[in-house]
Amino acid sequence: MPPPPASLPAEPRRLPAPIAAGQPWTALAPMQDVTDLAFLQVISRYGAPDFFFTEFFRVHVQSRPEPHILRSILENTTGRPVFAQLIGESVPHLVRTVQALLACPVAGIDLNLGCPAPKIYRKNVGGGLLRDPARIDEILGALRAAVPGLLTVKMRIGFDDPANFGRILELVNRHAVDLLTVHGRTVKEMYRGEVRYDLIAQAVQTVRCPVLANGNITSAGRAADVLARTGAAGVMIGRHAIRNPWIFRQCRERFAGRPVSVVTLADVRAYIEHLYRATTTPGGPERLQVARMKKYLNFVGQGVDPDGVFLQAMRRAQTEAELFSVCDRHLLGEPARAFPPEPHPGLLARPNREGALETCSLDNVPA
Ligand SMILES: Cc1cc2nc3c(=O)[nH]c(=O)nc-3n(C[C@H](O)[C@H](O)[C@H](O)COP(=O)(O)O)c2cc1C
Repeated sequence: MPPPPASLPAEPRRLPAPIAAGQPWTALAPMQDVTDLAFLQVISRYGAPDFFFTEFFRVHVQSRPEPHILRSILENTTGRPVFAQLIGESVPHLVRTVQALLACPVAGIDLNLGCPAPKIYRKNVGGGLLRDPARIDEILGALRAAVPGLLTVKMRIGFDDPANFGRILELVNRHAVDLLTVHGRTVKEMYRGEVRYDLIAQAVQTVRCPVLANGNITSAGRAADVLARTGAAGVMIGRHAIRNPWIFRQCRERFAGRPVSVVTLADVRAYIEHLYRATTTPGGPERLQVARMKKYLNFVGQGVDPDGVFLQAMRRAQTEAELFSVCDRHLLGEPARAFPPEPHPGLLARPNREGALETCSLDNVPA
């Protein structure tokens, strides 16, 4: 067959098909120190999202793609595609990093325009870029030229207000971005305050690509409400997938109009054990693994009891045996009791330490 004439348009870029044909997309939110290979594999066992995003690869003059993040791409056995997320502002180094990542089996390249940690945004990267649409224009132009496949953007609605939101949405169109995720808060709001679903709806109306709605999607029911309210093409879920890894399967059930499956406290106990084993570094100190588990359990605990008794007890545990004894007491006393689909209101994952924020990691993010 003769080659197609050069004037023919290139193959249309297609987003990965959802697991359930015709349903809205679901994605696991990128989360630094959480969405590593082990977590992706754990979550897939309970019902994978349609696709994943890596935590951000930092891009600067001396950066090389971090090996532990690369593992979530190179050793991905979940059967679901992974987008590689970048954070940076230097065009040549972003392009250099894209070229390295495109040699790996990535679904596409995602640009972080949302990280709210002061140490990050002061460098004018992540959420800091939302103050500078001209720079975003330049970066997206260069990325679009460098990425033949899918180029995606994850943004907040602004830095301290949504004044630049409309302009940045125009840039998403100008540079033919393939998928836009909007977390409906400003950088200065961090994780506090109402999510502006009305502005996510504005993005849906404005951009030509599909939009994923993000922020406080706590359950399958809430996902359906947010989709109805915003018209988004899908949802991205972060912290509530740590609490409830069944959430993506439950979304598919809900979107299909089927009853949402019930999770029991015994199921949650088994998930905690699975997470403990999957995230343990062989030969690593037990107390570090217990400390790591407490970061996940801060979220899981929001569904265990309304008074936060589990949360208080698990924070006192120092050893693996103590931690699992707390889990047994709270989760195996009435193993058949349902784990509620929504978190109990008013339970904070940890005292609010946002003033000390240095990164987006679990150490700093309140639930
Ligand atoms: C521990 C943690 C780490 C995060 N790291 C990243 C990151 O690397 N890149 C990013 O774009 N967003 C990051 N975020 C933001 C989430 O992707 C998401 O936008 C935010 O948590 C709101 O969604 P949720 O309410 O479903 O959690 C992080 C959030 C948390 C809780």
